[in-house]
This record gives sequence, structure tokens and C-alpha cells, in this order.
Amino acid sequence: MAIREILVVPNPVLKQVSEPVAAVTDELRALMDDMLETMYAAPGIGLAAVQVGVPQRVIVMDLARDGEEPQPRYYVNPEILWASEETAPYEEGCLSVPEIYDEVERPSQVKLKYLNYQGEAVVEEAEGLFAVCIQHEMDHLDGVLFIDHLSRLKREQAIRKVKKLVKAA
Ligand code: NI
Repeated sequence: MAIREILVVPNPVLKQVSEPVAAVTDELRALMDDMLETMYAAPGIGLAAVQVGVPQRVIVMDLARDGEEPQPRYYVNPEILWASEETAPYEEGCLSVPEIYDEVERPSQVKLKYLNYQGEAVVEEAEGLFAVCIQHEMDHLDGVLFIDHLSRLKREQAIRKVKKLVKAA
């Protein structure tokens, strides 16, 4: 496994629409292993492949709390089958928009299908933090960042702050 570089805004790769994965191969599992290690090191709770410069429809996630055993999750070619009309706000952040947090309103429950680490088809319902995180990560697959849900002013401010942060590093 290896830690990969996480791209940050305004890197144009983050705006790319990711391609569907043809098959879950050992090569793809190696990518998912690297993504998980990169996410843990950051640290973060979710990461899309495009964030490490690989525009494929792949997400890793771990929502275990501090002190709990790791619970790695892998989502290949995820699709939303249903989303609730009820929405809920959540203060989101993103490894590609470091140190910026703001409230985004999303459906509070979704039903999704995807392929898991073994390449098996899974249908699952999500609510709470899981629903927030999977929708945030799936946005990445379509080139959408959480700041794209904010006002233009807030988005531009966020990008300016990240540029400053990167320059200072
Ligand atoms: Ni993100």
C-alpha cells in the first residue's frame, strides 16, 4: 500500500466526471487499498479516486468513531436508486478543500447500489452521517465539490483560502 497525493482546489482534475469501472480486479483493489491508507493518513472519513488523480467511479469510506475498530467500506460504480424528500443540513468538509467547513443540505436518506471490494453487487440504505458522506463522495464522481453547493461568494472565498494555505505550506 502507498499513500498518494490528495489533489486540492482549484485543481481541474477535481472537476472531471469519473468513468465507470469495467471490473473489480486486483489492480483496482490495489488502488482502493492505497486510497484507504491515504484517507486514514489525512485523516478523513471518505475519499473518491478522483481526489488522488484517478477519475474512476470508486469511493472508500470509514465511519468508525475514535477508539472503534476500523470499518473500511468500498463503493465501486455507486448509483443512487432513491433519495428521501426530507433533507437535513450537515457541516461538511473535504480533504480537497482543506480547513473549510460549511453547511450543506442533502436528502436525509438514500438507497444505493454498488459493487463492493469483492466485486459483488450490493443494495444498501443510508441515513445519518453515512447518507451525508456517500452523497458527498458520489458528487466527487461527477466533478462536484461540497463548496459547489454554497453561494458563489462562499465558494470563491474557500478557494482563495485554500490557495493561501497551499502557498504557506
Ligand atoms: Ni470531499
